[in-house]
Amino acid sequence: MKHTRIKDLLNSTEYGQRITVKGWVRTFRNNQFIAINDGSTLGNIQAVVDFHHTDEALLKRITTGAAVAVTGPLVESLGKGQRVEIKVESLEILGDSDPEKFPLQPKKHSLEFLREIAHLRFRTNTFNAIFRVRTALSFAIHQFFYERGFVYLHTPIITGSDAEGAGEMFQVTTLDFDNTPRNPDGSVDYREDFFGKQTNLTVSGQLEGELAAMALGNIYTFGPTFRAENSNTTRHLAEFWMIEPEMAFYELDDNMDLAEELLKYVIRFALDHCPDEIEFLRTRLLEEEKNKPQKDRAEMDLVEKLNFCLDNSFERLTYTEAIAILQRSKPNQKKQFKYLIEGWGADLQSEHERYLVEKHFKKPVILTDYPAEIKAFYMRQNEPDAEGRRTVRAMDILFPGIGEMVGGSQREERLDKLTQRMEEMDIPAKEMDWFLDTRRFGTAPHSGFGVGFERLVLFVTGMPNIRDVIPFPRTPHNAEF
Ligand code: 4AD
Ligand code: MG
Repeated sequence: MKHTRIKDLLNSTEYGQRITVKGWVRTFRNNQFIAINDGSTLGNIQAVVDFHHTDEALLKRITTGAAVAVTGPLVESLGKGQRVEIKVESLEILGDSDPEKFPLQPKKHSLEFLREIAHLRFRTNTFNAIFRVRTALSFAIHQFFYERGFVYLHTPIITGSDAEGAGEMFQVTTLDFDNTPRNPDGSVDYREDFFGKQTNLTVSGQLEGELAAMALGNIYTFGPTFRAENSNTTRHLAEFWMIEPEMAFYELDDNMDLAEELLKYVIRFALDHCPDEIEFLRTRLLEEEKNKPQKDRAEMDLVEKLNFCLDNSFERLTYTEAIAILQRSKPNQKKQFKYLIEGWGADLQSEHERYLVEKHFKKPVILTDYPAEIKAFYMRQNEPDAEGRRTVRAMDILFPGIGEMVGGSQREERLDKLTQRMEEMDIPAKEMDWFLDTRRFGTAPHSGFGVGFERLVLFVTGMPNIRDVIPFPRTPHNAEF
């Protein structure tokens, strides 16, 4: 029998209408009131059982977690907490749930505990809200680019190029480790491997994206990326999703404008389309904050924080200006940073990024023109400054509570400058010929950036750990399910 979504029923006023609802039991009180959730909304519908006329054995099977189908008229509810309920005329157990063994109880569980039962954590309102916000953000990203005529480019997940240098790679191979074919010098003979060469999981679709942008104009990728870094932090995953637009004829300012516009667009979309989910997450966060000492509590709640981000333009400054601020800062003077800023050239750690956005500017910040030494080979080189320091047209967007949300740059379009930099960085130009061809045939200024999708979801949901905003997190020593 066709069934009705609980989301639609909770707003319905068609009393008397006979309907069927299918979902999972959240609670069953007084042998009478079943709270059923079908995932369509955070709300449950109450189904009222006439226990005098219901088989005892059947009542016993209405347990938390069981899948049920109930049929009966929709009636106005007399109890408080809900407007409508179902007067159960027939009830079928679709799938039992042993109450002794079902790990989720109708009480609050820790996020750490839920991570261990990631296959069941979807049954909680917290994860329902997170994954609906994730869906809205994902949809909004596509809509944003579609409205602007960008081509959605599916770049390869298995890559034959390892020059991006964005992080350690996972190797893809079908070779038998116990019996690897060897060259006379003892090295592995990759000609025997599946692709006849060494291949890896991609760390970024950018280089392939650049080829397409230099023909189609504006493109973006949105796919999984893999990094084998041993970073066990609340901001890193070994498998994460990245959005990488690449635009022909864009210079760094155009790049920054687009990135800021994109982030504001998708945050606004989530606020507009997931009000219930965001309200739920806002309340959840406030509850969590109550456990913290006053001084550690956030100044703004989740909705205020998101709106604040929409209402203010991102602060734009150069790396060199940022270093000066950090050197003068209290935590640097008082040696409270783990990594002290000794001077120009230092790579920024997340403690420094967070100081800039959370303490100094108190809003998202775009840092530009980093030292060439700490950035990728493909970034456009600036003229050395008066002191001979070399910088590149990089831009990183830093967010409160997150640190780096976006990394991007204007690209080096001049062949000689690019190959010279590759040589300095020991990147074999021969293997990169396909990439360098864009600079040989009709090269032009172009720019792009990468948004870490889970970091975006982290910001919009206010969750503290990136493992809780992806359905099945992959981190060092963890690839469950
Ligand atoms: O700064 P990244 O390494 O930049 C690139 O990969 C460029 N190819 C992007 C481009 O210009 N097209 O990564 C981009 C973003 C980071 O700012 C961060 O938000 C996210 O990807 N990111 C991660 N997110 C989760 N886990 C990790 N291990 C991440 N590494 C990077
Ligand atoms: Mg980066």
